[in-house]
Order: sequence, then structure tokens, then C-alpha cells
Amino acid sequence: MNKPQISADEFAQRRKTLMQQIGNQAIAIVSAAGLKVRNRDAEYSFRQDSDFLYLSHFNEPDAILVLVPERAEGEFILFCEEKNPKIEQWTGVRAGLEGAKSLYAADESFSIKQIDQILPSLMEGKQSIYYSMASDFDFDQRVMQWLASVKKKIRQGITAPHQLINLDQVLHEMRLIKSTAEIAMMQYAANISIAVHRIAMRQCSVGQYEYEIEAYFKYAFTSYGMSEAYTSIVGGGKNACILHYINNDQTLNDKELLLIDAGAEYQAYASDITRTFPINGRFTAAQKQLYQIVLDAQRAAIAVATPNHHWDEPHQAAVAVITKGLLKLGILKADKRRSQQKNIQQLIKDEAYTPYYMHKTGHWLGLDVHDVGDYRVDGQWRTLQAGMVITVEPGLYISPSKDIDKKWWNIGIRIEDDVLITDKGNRVLTQDLIKEIDDIEALMSPS
Ligand code: GLY
Ligand code: MN
Ligand code: MN
Repeated sequence: MNKPQISADEFAQRRKTLMQQIGNQAIAIVSAAGLKVRNRDAEYSFRQDSDFLYLSHFNEPDAILVLVPERAEGEFILFCEEKNPKIEQWTGVRAGLEGAKSLYAADESFSIKQIDQILPSLMEGKQSIYYSMASDFDFDQRVMQWLASVKKKIRQGITAPHQLINLDQVLHEMRLIKSTAEIAMMQYAANISIAVHRIAMRQCSVGQYEYEIEAYFKYAFTSYGMSEAYTSIVGGGKNACILHYINNDQTLNDKELLLIDAGAEYQAYASDITRTFPINGRFTAAQKQLYQIVLDAQRAAIAVATPNHHWDEPHQAAVAVITKGLLKLGILKADKRRSQQKNIQQLIKDEAYTPYYMHKTGHWLGLDVHDVGDYRVDGQWRTLQAGMVITVEPGLYISPSKDIDKKWWNIGIRIEDDVLITDKGNRVLTQDLIKEIDDIEALMSPS
């Protein structure tokens, strides 16, 4: 499989588009992620801030990117760590100031240590500062300090920016619509995840620990040079009912289901897949009935995940199927004075399904697993359009309750696929991963 890449031209085009949008009276500032301490001297693996990566491809901490449209000396300025062989001996090779220019196309680069002296001068004469407001309070303060240094010079005839604008408004709108290259990155992450899910499904057996399955995902993703896009959820039996279950430390029991929510991240582009299947390879009658409702709900949702439908329509479609299904099984109760249709309408209106289906049907997907972008525009649900990528992930989670027949207790099911909205409809990036009951049982049957 050829590994897709984002070209240097595309990174340059992103910066150019952003600068066109903010205009030449503005400056944009984006901070890299910092290293995070796990405990005492040990740090978590570094993960770059997605906005910073989107604009620069630069994958080091302690860096700040500045875009100054129409600046004569260069519009793209990167502040980063200088080269230092003694430190690099311990923590690895840095691009350094020359590398920032030669490898990452910065027009100018400065040591991050000089930022307090240089950045205020880049703000001089500008009207607006765009940065990601209220994401990191330390960074908010630093921006205020840089602005304060410019304001101190106003008696020398220097004008200071008088407007702070949230960069997210502009940048996240750009990130929301994926380019052809980005879609190829996401398809690649999805393809690897599909292959790993398939093997995990085939190899699963009664008596294994959940963490053995989790370990396989970690191993397999790493063997492709990737990592998890988020901490994998591997929940057997009742653990599948815990939406963000990540303990993954219980044994897998006969006649129970296993829910795996795991996706690879390829060069920071995420995939996000959930499959639920019987640990012993055969669904029980009760599991089949609930599973089929979730699958039908997912298909109904995907059918309306197309241009000209709004963001919430897939959720509404899923909720309608789930409500109808739960009513049929007697988990939701009918009011006998009403027709079936009226009952369904009322139950949907009352959100009677929420004890069993308590989350939304998806989210944007991209450089972040819960990717950026507004879900409402001018108070209305956003219309889906080509280039957006969403997840479609209905589920049912039945906790024990005296009101419900015991046969449904502790069954947790979610089915999650990644869906690209296209001009003509949609393309399910994860469609090659089986989810029909017969297909799962066939794959899991001993050969
Ligand atoms: N894996 C996180 C989610 O499905 O939203
Ligand atoms: Mn998801
Ligand atoms: Mn997921």
C-alpha cells in the first residue's frame, strides 16, 4: 500500500488561504503543543497540536508559528528551538532555525527564546490578532503580554492591535472540509484499522483478557508506524455499556458481546471504528435482536448523511429506528390508547430512548478524533457538504432495571463507521469492515 502524504504545496496553500481570510491588517499566532509530564521526570509521547500541524507540518514542541500577511521580509515566521548537539543527544534531532526554513518553508525563523523581543514588533501597526482564544490560559496571558509591550510604544507613534479574534472561527472552518490528500490520509488510517479489527474479531476467544485485545491493536498500529487515535475501548459484556470504558482489564465471557472502539492515527489523521460481536462467535437470540436494531439505525443514518441534509438528520433517523425497535421488543412501553405511529412520535418527542441511547450519532473526524468545526451555524444545524467527514455511531446500552426483561440486561452495542460526504452522497471510508450478523458469524466460525 502506497503511503499518502500531504505535499509541501498544500501546507503552503493552507497558510495562504488563512492569510487571505484574515487580511493584511491582521496577524495570526499559533502555538505548538508542549510536552506533558506523566509522572515526575517521565513525559507522555509528544503529540503536536492539530492546528499547528495543519499549518506547518512541524512536529516539535516549544514552537510558535506566526503569519503576517504581506510582510515584506516574509509572511511565515517560525519560532523554534535552536540546534543544540548536547541536548539533541538526549532528546533527539531538532530542525533548528535553518531546518525551519529549508525543511518547513518558513520565510524567517528565530529562536523561541527571542519570542518576547520579536513577536511584539510583528504586531505593530496591525489591527487584529487572531489566535485560539481560551484554549490555554497561559498562552492567553502571553498574548496579552506581547500586546502590552506594543501598547507601551504608542507615544512613539506605533499603533497596537485593538481587536482579538478567535482563530478557531477561520481555521476550523478550513479544517472541516477535507482536501483530496487529506481524504487519502484518512482512508489509509481507516484501511489499517479495518485490517486490525478484522483479525481481532477472528481471533477473539472466551477467557482472553480485554487488555490482550487492546495490546493487539497497539502492536498492529505500531507495526504500521501508527498509533491509536484515542485510547481503545475494549469492553466485554456489561463493560460495553460504559461509553468511555478504557480499563480494559476484565476477562471475556462465553455468551457475551465484545465492543471494540479503536482506530489508528496516520500522521495525525484519525480513524474511529466500533464493532460489536459475540465473544464465542455466535449471537444469542436477544443479542441478535438488539444488534439488528442498531445496524438498521446506522444504515438509516448513513442514508441521510448526504449533502443538503443537516447535521442532526442522521441522528434523528437513528433515533426513529431505535425507538421503533425498542417499542417492538417491549423495552419501551406503548400507550394502548394510541396508534403505533402516534406512540413512536410521542416516545421520540419525550426522548424515551435516552436511558438506552444517551449519546449523539456522530461527530466530525479529521486531525482530531472529535474534530473541529461548528455543528450549528446562525442557530441552525449545519448543512452537510462534500469534503466533511463524520462518524455514524448509534448504539444501545441496556443497564439492569426492574422495568426490563432480564434477557436484555448488560447488553451494550455500538456500530461506528467513518463517512465522507461527497457531491453525489457519501462514501463510507470503513465500509470494508463487516457488520452484518451472518458475516460476523461466518468470519468467526472455526474453519
Ligand atoms: N472513539 C471515540 C468516539 O467514538 O467518539
Ligand atoms: Mn466516534
Ligand atoms: Mn469511536
